[in-house]
Amino acid sequence: MNVFFDKDADLALVRSRRVAVIGYGNQGRAQALNLRDSGVDVTIALPEQSRRRDQAREDGFAVFTTAEAAGRADLLVLLAADEDHARIYSEEIEPNVRDGAAILFAHGLSIRFGLIVPRADLDVLLVAPKGPGTALRSEYQAGAGLIALYAVGQDATGTASGLALSYAAALGSGRAGILPTTFAEESEADLFNEQAVLWGAIPELIHAGFETLVEAGFSPEVAYFECLTEVKLLADLIYARGIAGMREAISNTAEFGALEGGTRIVTPETRAEMRRILAEVRSGRFVDGLMADASAGYPRLRASRADAAAHPIEQVGQRLRGLTGKA
Ligand SMILES: NC(=O)c1ccc[n+]([C@@H]2O[C@H](COP(=O)([O-])OP(=O)(O)OC[C@H]3O[C@@H](n4cnc5c(N)ncnc54)[C@H](OP(=O)(O)O)[C@@H]3O)[C@@H](O)[C@H]2O)c1
Repeated sequence: MNVFFDKDADLALVRSRRVAVIGYGNQGRAQALNLRDSGVDVTIALPEQSRRRDQAREDGFAVFTTAEAAGRADLLVLLAADEDHARIYSEEIEPNVRDGAAILFAHGLSIRFGLIVPRADLDVLLVAPKGPGTALRSEYQAGAGLIALYAVGQDATGTASGLALSYAAALGSGRAGILPTTFAEESEADLFNEQAVLWGAIPELIHAGFETLVEAGFSPEVAYFECLTEVKLLADLIYARGIAGMREAISNTAEFGALEGGTRIVTPETRAEMRRILAEVRSGRFVDGLMADASAGYPRLRASRADAAAHPIEQVGQRLRGLTGKA
């Protein structure tokens, strides 16, 4: 796979565009600030009633509605929540967007699953930084960057690929690496990983380990350190050295424990379930579920947030952070 860096990107391409960042949340604020610091002409689009309008103005940006911004800009960056993309595109962007403009996404979902079918004259780009907005901004300010994936979904003007690379470099990702992908690969892998590894499986594993120890009479504080705090040490080691390298940094006892326990928890049935999750992502069933929950006002998401907040592990964590400042 080719990896691209600042030297491969022409920043002048994005600097020559009027860029409107639609949304000023997690990604929107960080991307807008990085773009501006890279010399790009950026405005913000938010609904009239948005509470983030004041923050964007305080940060020094001009703020428009999305319909207004779509008529002014020649690169629209859609950084509203994925569930809102279809409505924002059909009601506010498509009727107003200039001929031959570009629309850029930070996640491939809306294009891959057909929630948006862009007008044929538009360039359709993906630049997906691999991390939250806070990290995108702090890395940039530290003179570094987050790795980003980039792709072209539609190249109406013949300049889409260069513009995507240029945009990624303006975010700071040319300092770390910009990797080519497709809308399908990025969105399917991301939706799979969110469920099967990162936000779904790992927290569930932590809860289960904590509950097992506490049920057996261990102190919640010790269970917390063992099952939650040490995940950070593991993540740091894996990030720096890979999994085999991590094993060199732990004791023989811990390594022998890994040998005994790992495949009893992640069994052939777990792997079969992962394949089922991937199939549900690819068939569109997962996205249908997300959209159904969103249109009902997120009953499932709200219930699961409440369950997570009420779990006893949260009180232990709060207590330990108060005592040690570190847990
Ligand atoms: N979060 C991440 O770490 C991450 C990482 C990579 C990619 N992404 C992708 O980035 C995109 C944005 O995610 P996010 O987490 O940054 O979203 P977010 O924090 O929920 O922010 C969404 C923003 O969109 C605004 N908005 C809602 N309706 C709008 C409209 N009609 N016109 C203009 N703005 C509107 C919201 O306004 P209010 O402020 O009024 O609510 C809010 O400012 C998604 O495609 C996501 O998949 C996210």
